[in-house]
Amino acid sequence: MRALAVIAIASVALAGAPIAASAQDEVEAPHQNWSFAGIFGTFDRGSLQRGFQIYNEVCSNCHSMKLLHYRDLGPNGPGGGIGFSDAEVAAIAAQKQVEDGPNDQGEMFRRPGKPQDTFVSPFPNVEAARAANGGAAPPDLSVIVKARGRGLEYLWGEGGPDYVYGILTGFEDKPPTGFQLTQGKYYNNIFPGHQISMPPPLADNTVKFQDGTKATLSQEAHDAATFLTWAAEPNMEDRKQTGAKAILFLLAMTGVLYGAKRRVWKDLH
Ligand code: HEC
Repeated sequence: MRALAVIAIASVALAGAPIAASAQDEVEAPHQNWSFAGIFGTFDRGSLQRGFQIYNEVCSNCHSMKLLHYRDLGPNGPGGGIGFSDAEVAAIAAQKQVEDGPNDQGEMFRRPGKPQDTFVSPFPNVEAARAANGGAAPPDLSVIVKARGRGLEYLWGEGGPDYVYGILTGFEDKPPTGFQLTQGKYYNNIFPGHQISMPPPLADNTVKFQDGTKATLSQEAHDAATFLTWAAEPNMEDRKQTGAKAILFLLAMTGVLYGAKRRVWKDLH
């Protein structure tokens, strides 16, 4: 009996709900075509830069990304950055105010950001973040794409990236009839339990893209999710290339070894 229960639990776990969801809450996020999906998938630099613009102008008002440095966006960043030059990175960092110190007087002071600084957090601590957001602290977004996916799915563009896209586009003005929405919460089709403390952050034309791309809600959500996937796995492209090379090598080696085996054993045939 106990073994059966374990098998039942294991199979439910393998069938898999996103980490935060209970089985009956689960709603599949709509599947998107991601440039980085598949063995030869690569990050679309334009999409990454637009996604960063969205994070920088919108999401960073509430969400930290503590694992990133401004220099990561530049040519020497992991995976070659997101296509910004060193000068562009310096300009982005310089727009931020960073706390530094203490100075000779023992006081902390603020100064413009530098490329080596970590992304500035919107709140000094999690209590402040919670207090400003109706009791729910906005999670750090550095690795949210991995945290909300299953296993290595994100390598194929499913799971985490689809989930983030789904959250950003899944808000409804009104909950379905009969649904009791707690005050201060918002109805979201994808979020487990459907009540989220994040007000809809994006709509058509929330940002004006510097490269002239039309800023529809769907485009913004797509680009934001692309940027967050890069943030969580900036070396994805290298990793896939290494994997493809390893497989080619193994195939070639199989041929060589098969040939050698036939030679060595030819007298016995
Ligand atoms: C006004 C503040 C605010 C803004 C702006 C904001 N968020 Fe949030 N976000 C929150 C809060 C609060 C939560 C926690 C929600 C909860 O647990 O109910 C959250 C949760 C999330 C989650 C996690 C859902 C989960 O599974 O836990 C994601 C992903 C997310 N936000 C992405 C974004 C992105 C991308 C942007 C920018 C386009 C953004 N947010 C802008 C406040 C904000």
